[in-house]
Amino acid sequence: MKGRLRGALNKPIAMALLLMGSALLFATACGATPQTILEPTTRSARDSLDLLKFVFWSAVGVFVVVEGALIYVLIRYRRRSGDGLPRQTHGHTRLEIAWTIVPTILVVVIAVLTVPRIFALAQGPEADTLRVRAIGHQWWFEFVYPDLGVVTANELHLPVNQSVEIQLESEDVLHSFWVPKLRGKLDMVPGRVNKFVITPESTGTFLGQCAEFCGIAHALMKFTVVVESESDFAAWVDNERAPRAPPASEQAKAGEALLASKGCVACHTIRGTEAAGVIGPELTHVGSRNHIAAGILPNTHEGLAKWLSGPQDVKPGNFMVIPELSEDEVESLVTYLVGLK
Ligand code: CUA
Repeated sequence: MKGRLRGALNKPIAMALLLMGSALLFATACGATPQTILEPTTRSARDSLDLLKFVFWSAVGVFVVVEGALIYVLIRYRRRSGDGLPRQTHGHTRLEIAWTIVPTILVVVIAVLTVPRIFALAQGPEADTLRVRAIGHQWWFEFVYPDLGVVTANELHLPVNQSVEIQLESEDVLHSFWVPKLRGKLDMVPGRVNKFVITPESTGTFLGQCAEFCGIAHALMKFTVVVESESDFAAWVDNERAPRAPPASEQAKAGEALLASKGCVACHTIRGTEAAGVIGPELTHVGSRNHIAAGILPNTHEGLAKWLSGPQDVKPGNFMVIPELSEDEVESLVTYLVGLK
């Protein structure tokens, strides 16, 4: 039985089954990811997906026709025993014209569909567009709302159904801003501002990440976009504009003092305190964010303690300079930071 099975499953069939199995695994893996381009929530993401689908199915059509013809010819004209040298032909004008014209038409159709979309993607802002500066740093994202007086990090809040212009900048090296459900990627280039306008159409939290290799922690440079109702967004803005919540306990007070004595204030800003550094993420309301360390750790007591006890273990290569802290000091700092809602 085994021998017969092995005979039946000869090499090409086994290879084909293996390929189909891998393709199936690949396809199901795609379905589970929150960073899919297949669930667009803005017009520009939808436009890109429509174009992708057209090009993909055109390619499938070409593949089927070409491979089908190839397989037909391989079988129909295979060498049989007793065959001599087949009739030799040189060139086939009609065929050659056909396989020049058909791909040309296909490429022209793709160009005609693509060009207007490129212009649509580059469209400027309308009068009531919200402006946000997104600044790439090794290895985190800074978000500045120049008209609202808000500065935050790694968590971009946007109101639903409101057009927003995102201005991409970089503080150091090339980064790339990519939130697959909102838009295709666009580079953040030092010394230059790239802009795009989108209107998020559904509320929710969308994952984004840096999509341009930017150094050792590139893979750990993530962020989230929280698209919320107009009233939730207004409440978030009000909260962000307020100075930090005063420490609510003796331990939190000790934490705030440690921030100064350990030198954290040189890099971070916490409005309402002496911390006014602009090198690291702004922390005035860090306790209200979902993640820390650019989307790497959940913003919980444990997450913060893990980060402060060994930032290099969590994100090797990052530029945070922190002296060795005792367990008590970590506890005080965490208690204080968690309270910065
Ligand atoms: Cu920033 Cu990769």
